[in-house]
Amino acid sequence: TRKALGEAHSKLILVGEHAVVYGKPAIAIPFPLKVRSIVEESSGNIMFESAVYTGPIDSMPMRMKGISECIKETLHYLGKPLEGLRIRIDSAIPLGRGLGSSAAVAVALVRSLFSFCGQEPSQRELFSFVQIAETHAHGKPSGIDMAAVSSECPIWFEREKEPIPVKTNGPLYIVASDTGRIGDTRIAVENVRKRYLLEPEKVEKSLEKIGKIVDEAKNALLNGDMYLLGQLLNRNQEELISLGVSDDGLNRLIERARNAGALGAKLTGGGLGGCMIALADSLESARIISSELMKSGAFRSWYFSSQDDSLY
Ligand code: MEV
Repeated sequence: TRKALGEAHSKLILVGEHAVVYGKPAIAIPFPLKVRSIVEESSGNIMFESAVYTGPIDSMPMRMKGISECIKETLHYLGKPLEGLRIRIDSAIPLGRGLGSSAAVAVALVRSLFSFCGQEPSQRELFSFVQIAETHAHGKPSGIDMAAVSSECPIWFEREKEPIPVKTNGPLYIVASDTGRIGDTRIAVENVRKRYLLEPEKVEKSLEKIGKIVDEAKNALLNGDMYLLGQLLNRNQEELISLGVSDDGLNRLIERARNAGALGAKLTGGGLGGCMIALADSLESARIISSELMKSGAFRSWYFSSQDDSLY
């Protein structure tokens, strides 16, 4: 039987989450946890298989409506009938942890459907179909997740603009730790919006500061100045706290990481649960920070070098 594969990886937002929704820039990097989508010829209705749901795409639960819409629109565009396929999603990316799992699943899915038809989507085609799934999952996402999970290098992202590769001088040693609590990005984005309505000057000031931090971070990356980059992560975290998207669990891990030798640390992604990241000055230091975070109650912790595909 005919078979095709599509892949994507997860992502970490280095600096700029939330402010990116309001048109500020953000920088995201690839995170080497992967998802694969395998499409096979079969008979009858389109069947979907994943850890979350297995069955015909027409009976998907409400929260997966975006995925079924995305499949239908993509097949329609490719001129394929809505039958005779089996789609299997095989993902190593935990859900709802700010790692871009929903965007990564959709990117892998669209790539696999195109590949099944002997095609490769352009970036524009890819984003337009992934956007269907993301809009259902997140409301009004900035688009940074889908840009980041489909890019092989760090990106500079601004809403409605083409993502730009970011140059880095030397590897980044990053620790990512999961609080173990699902962070609902949709709710976090909505909370910031409500706060904006209540205290527009204060929120505007935070967003401005974050925009400047992201700009400085781009230069720190270019110059390989990891000490400055660490400080920028810390300053970004202060603004995320003032936007109301951090929480005690995240703050505790961030504090622990700093005490264990991190150059800087902050939440990553939507916040209110989910993951935090720390910047280390070596792989060995990243290993120590990671093990400290596990001792301090992190649910999971990874570390890696940005110039290497291995994840520890
Ligand atoms: C989620 O990874 C990043 C947010 O800025 C939301 C978005 O950009 O759509 C919190």
